[in-house]
Amino acid sequence: MEEGRSSVHGSWASRWTFILAATGSAVGLGNIWKFPYIAGENGGGAFVLVYLLCVVLVGVPVMMAEVMLGRMGRASPVNAMKKITRQVGLHGFWNGIGWLGVVGGLLILSYYAVIAGWALYYVVEMASGRLQGATPAEAAGTFAALLADPGRLVFLQSAFLGLTLLVVVAGVSRGLGTAVRVMMPLLFALLVVLLGFAARQGDWQAGWDFLFSFRADHLTGAGVLTALGHSFFTLSLGMGAIMAYGAYMPERASITGTVLTIAVLDTLVALMAGMAIFPIVFASPGMSPDAGPSLLFQTLPVVFGNMPGGLLFGSLFFFLVTIAAWSSSISLLEPGVAWMIESWRVNRVVANLVLGALAWLLGLGTVFSFNWWSGATLAGGTFFDWIDFFTSSLLLPLTGLFIAVFVGWLMRPGTVFAAMGDDPRPLLRAWHWVLAWICPVAIFAIFAVGLYNKFH
Ligand code: PHE
Repeated sequence: MEEGRSSVHGSWASRWTFILAATGSAVGLGNIWKFPYIAGENGGGAFVLVYLLCVVLVGVPVMMAEVMLGRMGRASPVNAMKKITRQVGLHGFWNGIGWLGVVGGLLILSYYAVIAGWALYYVVEMASGRLQGATPAEAAGTFAALLADPGRLVFLQSAFLGLTLLVVVAGVSRGLGTAVRVMMPLLFALLVVLLGFAARQGDWQAGWDFLFSFRADHLTGAGVLTALGHSFFTLSLGMGAIMAYGAYMPERASITGTVLTIAVLDTLVALMAGMAIFPIVFASPGMSPDAGPSLLFQTLPVVFGNMPGGLLFGSLFFFLVTIAAWSSSISLLEPGVAWMIESWRVNRVVANLVLGALAWLLGLGTVFSFNWWSGATLAGGTFFDWIDFFTSSLLLPLTGLFIAVFVGWLMRPGTVFAAMGDDPRPLLRAWHWVLAWICPVAIFAIFAVGLYNKFH
């Protein structure tokens, strides 16, 4: 294999496989579980507008930079950054971008697998019929009983991690590529089916109004920050995932076009998920749309359990969540696996087992946060709260900031433009300007205000 042209791990079969894989990474618990409830809590339409602005002005430019770095380095984030810093004569400090990605990926995977395990549980729980006609209290009881049982949580976490390893062990083309080519169309099809169900059985108009009516007075400064932070999480940025995937991208594919497609698809899924969830919630008297994080696991089972055909569609719904989380978790593991194969010269199976075991062990902290260790808090936060805060609020923005500064300020524009390929120059210049000026300021602002909020 020619040095610099492709990675030792192989490549995506086509530009479309890259788009599907990166969309698979982006579309996850962030879209289906988090976006609907934060949009609902922050003024609906006004929040959606700010979130779209964040995706366009910060998310897309940083994603383009990440893909470019990955493709330029043609290796795992750590070794890609090593190669690039050497090539452009910059200090090894900047290799930290790669390291933060690999470490961040493992930390996120550790708790992501636990939450995805809950979705897995509800696939079976809904299908079993036990939630038929469930009252809110009964559904809350089911969820509480699940969280109180570490054995069951560990089993589910292990099962989900097993699914993740299964794909990543099979490699880039045969494993990840094949998986996303099956999973992503399935995910879209399921979403459309569920939207149809929501339109027939739910209160479509109420759901639409809740999500899209422009209520600027509901939007606070904190809400704007939530929108910014979420644009990072939902696009899988600042984490090495997109950089690792960029390393397997065909040489001549347009980065601008590809990244725009991914961002549009990710946003579309978030909006569709909102429109699949809220009409169903509003169709049931007494159910509240602002239930927060428990919306998905406590509110929806009640709603589905009391609708004709609800158990089947409820089960399908949680299957959809599982698939979305699955195609994201493989992108959390791949950067570390690729790094380990390159640097330790071990094979894919060993790298998967070592990193999978690490994520599993760390995940126990999240499992116990909901039962044995729920009282062991630091400044009011459990182990889970802290690992979530440390990754989402610290690592992702920090790495994103470094990427914007590195590509926007430290690399020579000539090198950057050459690495971007044949996209129209004026477009690339506009991108470079936004990356250099808008992104660092915006990210710095999220960072500063987020930290201030947290510790004041
Ligand atoms: N984007 C994923 C989601 O929305 C989460 C994720 C973050 C995946 C970072 C990979 C890297 O759920």
